[in-house]
Amino acid sequence: MRDKIFTQKNDLVNFTFDAQVAAVFDDMVKRSVPGYQTLIEMMGLLVKTYGQNNTNYYDLGTSTGAVSLALGLNNTHKNNKIIALDNSPDMVRKCQANLKGKITNFEVICCDIQDIYFDNASIVVLNLSLQFISPKVRQALIDKIYQGLNARGALISSEKIHFDNTQKQAEMANLHLDFKRANGYSELEIASKRQSLENILITDTSKTHLKRFKKAGFSQSFCYFQCLNFASFLAVK
Ligand SMILES: C[S@@+](CC[C@H](N)C(=O)[O-])C[C@H]1O[C@@H](n2cnc3c(N)ncnc32)[C@H](O)[C@@H]1O
Repeated sequence: MRDKIFTQKNDLVNFTFDAQVAAVFDDMVKRSVPGYQTLIEMMGLLVKTYGQNNTNYYDLGTSTGAVSLALGLNNTHKNNKIIALDNSPDMVRKCQANLKGKITNFEVICCDIQDIYFDNASIVVLNLSLQFISPKVRQALIDKIYQGLNARGALISSEKIHFDNTQKQAEMANLHLDFKRANGYSELEIASKRQSLENILITDTSKTHLKRFKKAGFSQSFCYFQCLNFASFLAVK
């Protein structure tokens, strides 16, 4: 279904992942996040390299389950369970419906990312979800993921980022606006969504992400993909 949430001038409230957003999420994310399709396709490649037999794959902040689906459909390892979680009951319902019949051995859990216990993990994915977690607890979450990963296990994280260089930040922000315009969003929709996401989606720089991975103990971490102001990181234990 096409995203028309911000087409009308309404009293703006903080953005939430409710039933209205869940219904249009697949359209919204493709028209708002440059490179989103590639992010999902890359999961298929990464699961082959970093998945391990007899282990769990975690998809944190799954929304409608695109990452879980890519992990499940491209998995070449044996005896793996996919654990997809989200704290939005509407997203959890949509995810359940999307995965059912397409992949096997998965569980969709409605809970907060911070409350999950990681067990025997070879892959943990935070695809566009760490940015919605309070910056104060981000390091603790990455530390916990590191503890729960097996040796050579991988954390895959994609995020909207900002840049310390003011000019680069302005250029990238403008290009992102152009990307949204090119995908059919009006000036009103763009401005309203931006206002609604203020204080909800809090970006870091690439440097901050990489410092966090290093502090947690990952043996290597790097940006493997960037499209405008969205970057994907791979951190290997
Ligand atoms: C931008 S979406 C993620 C997109 C999805 N991973 C994908 O690849 O299509 C962010 C998701 O994170 C979820 N979320 C935000 N904060 C959360 C939290 N504290 N615990 C669990 N889920 C959370 C939201 O409900 C939302 O579904």
